[in-house]
Amino acid sequence: MSAKRHRLDRFISQHSEFNRKDIRLLLAQKRIFLDHQPAKSASQPIDEFTHVQLDDRVLQDNQPLYIMLYKPAGVVTAVKDDEHKTVLDLIDHPNKDQLHHVGRLDLNTSGLLLLTNDGRFSKKLTHPDHHISKRYHVTLANPIYGSYRKTFQQGIYFAYEGITTRPAELEILNDYQAIITLTEGRYHQIKRMFGHFRNQVIELHRHSIGMLELDSELEPGQWRFLKEEEFALLEQEPNTIMEC
Ligand code: URA
Repeated sequence: MSAKRHRLDRFISQHSEFNRKDIRLLLAQKRIFLDHQPAKSASQPIDEFTHVQLDDRVLQDNQPLYIMLYKPAGVVTAVKDDEHKTVLDLIDHPNKDQLHHVGRLDLNTSGLLLLTNDGRFSKKLTHPDHHISKRYHVTLANPIYGSYRKTFQQGIYFAYEGITTRPAELEILNDYQAIITLTEGRYHQIKRMFGHFRNQVIELHRHSIGMLELDSELEPGQWRFLKEEEFALLEQEPNTIMEC
């Protein structure tokens, strides 16, 4: 999804009978409203969610959507799939076709997944330089050893990408279960990290992104809109990842 911004004069010339030369007069006559306020200059930026009105004609009225979904295991993180139910199939909203997923969880991973129609929001959250932490509960086939912790903090070399994973924190809960915190999202990252020890991941569940936790009221497959105050949580870190 694009996150394009246009100048007001360009937008008006593309969406009405007026051309760019007419804008100064329209502005002087206060006939253009952006987000319900009179427009001030021909170069004002318009994005996909700016409400644009010319006289009593609404030229653009798109609502941004931000959704928290409890993705169940067995549902694919895609908007379309021939074989599996997709995360979009779980959303009942008239504008659901505008949505895309923010990042990805594997088919058998459950937990917190965000969906939006705001390309800038998803781009920011998934940008490689945006090292917000993501916490997962993991269940393994074989016992976990304390020695994993140091290896995860130091990083594991992924030959395919030619990279070393960023420091990851491991909190061991018992012999087979742990909480792992990542600050990046490589392909099958957690499975490959435990694969380094030939320990197979049996279950994987994402609890949180930054300080935003999956709503405990949601059942697998249910969703709700993000609350205003939750956007800030996506920028906050629950704890500090220790470099060693
Ligand atoms: N790491 C994985 O291996 N799978 C996921 O779904 C997320 C992180």
